[in-house]
Amino acid sequence: MTHVFHRSPKSVLPVAVQGSGAYVTDDSGKRYIDACGGAAVSCIGHGDMRVQEAIQRQMAEISYAHTSFFTSHAAEALADHLCDATPLPLDKVYFVGSGSEAIEAAIKMARQYHLERGEPSRKLVISRHQSYHGNTLGALSVGGNPPRRKPYGPFLLDEPKIEPCFAYRYARDGESAEDYALRAANLLEEKVLELGPQNVVAFLAETVVGATAGAVTAEAGYFRRIREICDRYGILLILDEVMCGAGRTGSFLACEQEGVAPDILTLAKGLGGGYQPIAAVMCTDNVYRTIVEGSGSFVHGHTYSAHPLACAAALAVQQVIRDDDLLANVVARGAQLRDRLEARFGNHPHVGDVRGRGLLQAIELVEHRDDKTPFASQRRIGAQIKREAMTLGLMVYPGAGTIDGVSGDHVLLAPPYGVDSETVDLIVERLGYAVDAAVAG
Ligand SMILES: Cc1ncc(COP(=O)(O)O)c(C=O)c1O
Repeated sequence: MTHVFHRSPKSVLPVAVQGSGAYVTDDSGKRYIDACGGAAVSCIGHGDMRVQEAIQRQMAEISYAHTSFFTSHAAEALADHLCDATPLPLDKVYFVGSGSEAIEAAIKMARQYHLERGEPSRKLVISRHQSYHGNTLGALSVGGNPPRRKPYGPFLLDEPKIEPCFAYRYARDGESAEDYALRAANLLEEKVLELGPQNVVAFLAETVVGATAGAVTAEAGYFRRIREICDRYGILLILDEVMCGAGRTGSFLACEQEGVAPDILTLAKGLGGGYQPIAAVMCTDNVYRTIVEGSGSFVHGHTYSAHPLACAAALAVQQVIRDDDLLANVVARGAQLRDRLEARFGNHPHVGDVRGRGLLQAIELVEHRDDKTPFASQRRIGAQIKREAMTLGLMVYPGAGTIDGVSGDHVLLAPPYGVDSETVDLIVERLGYAVDAAVAG
């Protein structure tokens, strides 16, 4: 009997009682390797004393100060740290409490930017199918995850979408990676011209697609062409790095590896690493100055924006990443993880693709490998793999509707940045057993 309205009310959940490094322990004493950080959140693992001490220090100073009265040392220092962590020209940081809030703030910020410039007709945000930007109504409106949108269709704005850059599923037979990248990016230009550039606020995309399609990276050159199109039509580029940012792919921002700088960028999961709920919207000096030198302030704000405890925790998490040189480990262990996944699943009859970057990797499940036929969606193969994996003491993050919101299944892995080599081997070994057991079942 529970009074909690659970996310999955029909499943009986174990109670998490302890977290340490890459492991979570439940109340029966069973240990699970946290190979997905919950939903790619726990970037430095569980129970780091340095973060606990930073939260305690902040609590001893002050726990809460409303942002219309005060700033805090923690918020100032965290913003300095984030701007310093990337070579890209992102100079200002607006703090909020979750990834969805960050997306809401980002699209409002983009709209206000155009208003300040005297372009009130710009009201549409173009985004991509097979994307996820959050569960609040604004974030769902710009998201391309059909099952999460379906019940709330009547509440949502009908924001325009284009196809993602998803080579395994969307490239044509015989099409080169270069040609496909260009064709996929040019869909944006077609959409802008169809809608009228004077009506478009921004293009929004996950730099690496996370939960909806499973660690999908764009082909080289895609984002550079996207940037050109945005510049040509005066459209802001918003990159959603709620899941893939803050070091998850081996650079502080995933877009650093694409050779593009966005105008606005969102961060969340790896920012606070699960120690506190926190998210951030980073923007260029141009966006900031246009708003501040225009009407004077961004018309937005939440009660818990820039919460001092959350900022102190996130700063400590980011310092751990820097002090322990964890991005080098993300690159090394990411390469090992890919290697092991290729070795275990590269010829597996029910794994069609192994993909991702750094410590954000996925396998896509298929009924038939040769023609990429997915499993019937009623089979819920990803959920079965998760169940088998939990039995084996492994946490993985499954997703369904990988191809078009209805068909296709994947399993996402996002272990902590400090994961060691033995644990990487163990993750792949257990995942192998879980996939085989689920397919046989
Ligand atoms: C890319 C992306 N954007 C936004 C969100 C929404 O974040 P939150 O669940 O913190 O609201 C998520 C969450 O999974 C995400 O992966």
